[in-house]
Amino acid sequence: TRRITVRDIAAAKERGEKWPMLTAYDATTASVFDEAGIPVMLVGDSAGNCHLGYETTVPVTLDEMTMLSAAVVRGTSRALIVADLPFGSYQEGPVQALRSATRLVKEAGVGAVKLEGGERSHRQIELLVESGIPVMAHIGLTPQSVNAMGYRVQGRGEEAAQQLLRDAKAVQDAGAFAVVLELVPAELAGEVTRVLQIPTVGIGAGAATDAQVLVWTDMLGLTGGRVPKFVKQYADLRAVMRGAAEAFAEDVVSGTFPEESHSVH
Ligand code: KIV
Ligand code: NA
Repeated sequence: TRRITVRDIAAAKERGEKWPMLTAYDATTASVFDEAGIPVMLVGDSAGNCHLGYETTVPVTLDEMTMLSAAVVRGTSRALIVADLPFGSYQEGPVQALRSATRLVKEAGVGAVKLEGGERSHRQIELLVESGIPVMAHIGLTPQSVNAMGYRVQGRGEEAAQQLLRDAKAVQDAGAFAVVLELVPAELAGEVTRVLQIPTVGIGAGAATDAQVLVWTDMLGLTGGRVPKFVKQYADLRAVMRGAAEAFAEDVVSGTFPEESHSVH
């Protein structure tokens, strides 16, 4: 079996096929999703809040993204692995973006990178694509800008909608192979999806996008505390893991574990 490539992703849009994407931050979890047939995995900088214990994605470093991405690549054999360029690793300009993306491709072995911003990031996207690195863009809510924009629905109102459409066209023209639309009204996401030739990947963007992405710890119920309204929870891993840890603790305290069958002589 060979890995899925960005060419397969383009072919899926031509055939009108929808596809799923999940985040992954470690080899073990990624191997489960690979076995499940998830075709595209994102080593998101959501690792900041979902895996590394930061408050936001802002503090995540390129070193951290490289380490996590390498683990996800090692844990998978079929999925296309996309790695986020973290905040501060591409905003200085195209050359910095290329240097950062090159590390993720060479050291971690990812097949593509993702970066935030539409018109404002088009020069970065152009140079990466020219250099042979496939780019997934990310517009709408861009969490690396939380200090400027907060976590609010984007693209509401005529002016904001027009800006989102310009951003979508800008990343397509720059050569992006796909674009994430985060937290935008479903109708607007549908319009962007109809207008673009490249696939749209929605998160909190309704049902009309070509693909859907969820953060795996939200999707499987591992995240502590509240999860966004757009998440569908497919399991309650937090309850499963907590129950198992409590049972183990009880068994040890009461002397019920280990049993004879767990012992060697
Ligand atoms: O970091 C991330 O998980 C993401 C997705 C939510 C698209 O950027
Ligand atoms: Na991200």
